Amino acid sequence: MQNKFLLAPMAGYSDAGFREVCADFGADVTFTEMLSAQAIKYDSEKTKALAFRASGEKTCIAQIFGKDADAMAQACENPLFKCFDGIDINMGCPAPKIVKNGEGSALLKNLPLASKIISECRRKVQNKSLSVKVRLGFDENNIVEIVKMCEDSGADFVTVHGRTAKQMYSGRADLDAIALAKASVKIPVFGNGDVTDAQTCAGMLATGVDGVMIGRGAIGSPWIFSQLKNRSGDIDKIQAISKHVEILRQIYPERLLVLMLRKHFLAYAAKLHAPVKERQKFALQTNIDESLKLFQSLVNHFENQ
Ligand SMILES: Cc1cc2nc3c(=O)[nH]c(=O)nc-3n(C[C@H](O)[C@H](O)[C@H](O)COP(=O)(O)O)c2cc1C
Repeated sequence: MQNKFLLAPMAGYSDAGFREVCADFGADVTFTEMLSAQAIKYDSEKTKALAFRASGEKTCIAQIFGKDADAMAQACENPLFKCFDGIDINMGCPAPKIVKNGEGSALLKNLPLASKIISECRRKVQNKSLSVKVRLGFDENNIVEIVKMCEDSGADFVTVHGRTAKQMYSGRADLDAIALAKASVKIPVFGNGDVTDAQTCAGMLATGVDGVMIGRGAIGSPWIFSQLKNRSGDIDKIQAISKHVEILRQIYPERLLVLMLRKHFLAYAAKLHAPVKERQKFALQTNIDESLKLFQSLVNHFENQ
């Protein structure tokens, strides 16, 4: 099997437009940001917008989070997810407000509950993939136990971010631990953490994983996928960002569109190495077409410097 390249679920970034642009540049699979099973139960409008999938969007998996096995299983059956290719369960988020609720990476402290959630979801997810995204452990690394639990509970594949929850984003992703995870189970294992270029990608693939999931390395540079796949052809940044905007225009009114895209424009401009003074202009924009024009002028100015 050829190694697969996955776009990570990232709250605030993995919107339908960004996902599709990454897919155009070669991401084989993309994920929504994490969606609350409770919010889905209560029909939250905000969550519905986050679960928007553009027509023609390539392989995309919806990620859910929660701690209640029934609510999680019910969420899997929600019509919102009919158009997605799979369901992914978040067992990695280390954010204090999520962990305090017993959700995300807190489930790594309670493997019997984690297993129950996966097996209840498995019962509902029959014709598409069910996967789990984990960290190495909560306080300590117990990744072998974790991935075996995922496999035994019915997951089709796991993605391992090579840090414990306690580490948050400090240090480097532990590639030896990811290699051990891969060697411990039969289901596919995807490696995640700190892949930003050909060298870090080669390091991750050397662990033997079935593919690489990329998060921060894609923010502001969705073309990373074509670079890592050695695809030839020009990268038209303006066309890519215009597509991102057009997809989100289908769901958000102008005011929200500007807000949703501001961080993306800032990230795109940062990757162009535009000076801070130039980048800050995005913060003042209230009109998306003006933001696009500003971006175009930055590309013309800084692209080849
Ligand atoms: C802004 C941001 C939001 C994130 N949101 C999620 C999320 O919704 N679900 C999830 O499983 N992980 C989330 N993550 C973690 C990433 O998916 C990924 O595991 C992590 O960033 C490490 O990969 P990287 O080094 O390639 O960025 C988020 C990370 C960032 C930076």
